[in-house]
Amino acid sequence: MTLICKAENIDNDIAVLNKAAEIIRSGGLVAFPTETVYGLGGDGLDPKAAQKIYAAKGRPSDNPLILHISHTDELKPLVKEIPKSAEKLMERFWPGPLTLIFKKADIVPYEVTGGLDTVAIRFPQNSIARKFISLCGRPVAAPSANSSGRPSPTRASHVEFDLKGKIDMIIDGGHCEFGLESTIVDVSKDRPCLLRPGSVTVEMLEDMLGGIDIDKAVTSKLEAGERPKAPGMKYTHYSPSAKVIIVRGNEENVVNKINQLVSQTDKCLKTGVIASEETKDRYIADEVLVTGSRSNTAEIASNLFKMLRKCDHHNIDVVFAEGLPENELGLAIMNRLKKAAGYKIYDV
Ligand code: TXA
Ligand code: MG
Repeated sequence: MTLICKAENIDNDIAVLNKAAEIIRSGGLVAFPTETVYGLGGDGLDPKAAQKIYAAKGRPSDNPLILHISHTDELKPLVKEIPKSAEKLMERFWPGPLTLIFKKADIVPYEVTGGLDTVAIRFPQNSIARKFISLCGRPVAAPSANSSGRPSPTRASHVEFDLKGKIDMIIDGGHCEFGLESTIVDVSKDRPCLLRPGSVTVEMLEDMLGGIDIDKAVTSKLEAGERPKAPGMKYTHYSPSAKVIIVRGNEENVVNKINQLVSQTDKCLKTGVIASEETKDRYIADEVLVTGSRSNTAEIASNLFKMLRKCDHHNIDVVFAEGLPENELGLAIMNRLKKAAGYKIYDV
């Protein structure tokens, strides 16, 4: 059975958080809110808990988990060294939506790191997440709390849909502010490298570091045999059951092309468009799902996964998504959309 409890305030809801921490300490699994997406937490130093996480998500066990901490002091015992570049990034972006990859210390089990000698660490900003992790008294291993391959959950109801009956508890802390998973930067090598774009943007990272490498998997489809540096980036991701197709270019061309593609789609199929506030009234598709205003990419980011999930609830067969320029937050949004679309894009 899965216990589902609301917790929106760390003082009023302390009993819920204590209960959740007790479940983690006794080897169970708890889904919890963060500012990015909901995480599926287990004891980060217990190999058995890691195996339970992989089983509940249906996730391959070579895809490593992120360890979540509630204070910067908790980092040191988990890693071999803290490079200068990491210190700078932690100072500026922790707590927050940035995960850093370090050389792992011996106490971190290989079950958590998918057999790698490195470990991903994140110090989230969400107050419920921080209180919960601190009550656990150990790092909390947590991937996104979705079934493997599905869009990440940004509401407790998304977690419930995917994992109810498979985990011990869901802490319902409302919707996730940023709505895309954390930015991942590997600081374990000589030069810092971006492995997954997120709300801490490349522009912000360059500003702090002077320069940063970007893994090819961030923007492009890998060829057969090529390996991304973040093992998770090789799997199909974020996919609704609908076929997703991206159309990008100037607003006028995008609207015209999508309407043309909709009119050419087999009439037995239900069509949808993932549109913006500005264009939503111009489409002829069966359903129009609005993520937000084109001038507010943070709003688009925070609604994207909800809209991808809505495609399934509305039984949409083919969904056309408006593309965005790949700078600032647009890079992270397009990274998720491209994966959902299997890199099917029209440039117009
Ligand atoms: O925002 C987030 O990061 C959310 C919340 C819950 O904190 N978590 C999350 O976890 O997105 P997950 O497991 O869905 O994605 C973690 C990604 C995967 O692509 C994984 O391959 C990569 O991080 N990763 C984890 N450890 C790694 C390591 N040691 N080296 C390279 N990539 C790693
Ligand atoms: Mg995930």
